[in-house]
Amino acid sequence: MKIRKAIIPVAGMGTRFLPASKAQPKEMLAVVDKPVIQYIVEEAVASGIEEIIFVTSNGKRAIEDHFDRNFELEYRLEQKRKKAALKAVSKIGKLAKFAFVRQAKPLGDGHAVLTALPFVDAHEPVAVLFGDDIIDSDEKPALRQLMDVYEKYGDPVIALQKVPKKDVSKYGVIGGKSVGAGAYQIDRFVEKPPVSKAPSNLIVIGRYILTPEVFDILPSQAAGGDGEIRLADAFNTLLEQNKALYGCKFEGTRYDCGNKLGFLKAQVELGLKHPDTGSNLKRYLKKTIKSL
Ligand code: G1P
Repeated sequence: MKIRKAIIPVAGMGTRFLPASKAQPKEMLAVVDKPVIQYIVEEAVASGIEEIIFVTSNGKRAIEDHFDRNFELEYRLEQKRKKAALKAVSKIGKLAKFAFVRQAKPLGDGHAVLTALPFVDAHEPVAVLFGDDIIDSDEKPALRQLMDVYEKYGDPVIALQKVPKKDVSKYGVIGGKSVGAGAYQIDRFVEKPPVSKAPSNLIVIGRYILTPEVFDILPSQAAGGDGEIRLADAFNTLLEQNKALYGCKFEGTRYDCGNKLGFLKAQVELGLKHPDTGSNLKRYLKKTIKSL
């Protein structure tokens, strides 16, 4: 079945990015000239997504405004014949159909998905994209690569990345076997294990294809010790029920824009690729590196 809808949870408080995220959503911080969240929406749309449900919270209004039209701004840009700016601004609201639903309490990523589920057909698979990661792919968007694995097997799919073993403890880590072309059949999912207990160095990145099997589990999924309903626990329940779960080691560069260094790397590397800034930034970096 074609995946038409995506859920993007953006209700988190952005505590890793304070004070920048004190009075604005961290998802609205700009990388070169676009907010992080726009890169994520563009990846979803380029993958074939038509409807996007944001799970928001208090203080996230700027995201709603960004994906809405701004008639006054468009009118003024038209008057001033600022064609490129007008095009860049007016296309945003037309990228997809957008809906916003509030997560009243910060009860975890599984709870965020549950909050959006009334707006998803019970028989329909759905994509979930977290608001932190920009994935830059020259060929196929990362989410589209996950959809290809879903279309082959018809089961839930998780985005995977190989990292140095020492870095695994910050993430969900999977165990399983390669079934070809970047796809893995997962038999273990361990959330943030110590390095010595990690089943592999394949970590979970915030892109998922969820199917009705996962929707069935979430409402009764017990909260973890921290009181949060986590997707990670729902995936473990799925595995306990002997149901299939796949991974997709996608091609592309991932920038974790939820932490300072990842955000800076995204600025530099996407700035080097951008036609307005690329050559001057390259010159500047060469000069700066020489003087270090
Ligand atoms: C969540 C998931 C984890 C995953 C990570 C990716 O953790 O629970 O499995 O590896 O996102 O960013 P969080 O970063 O919300 O603690």
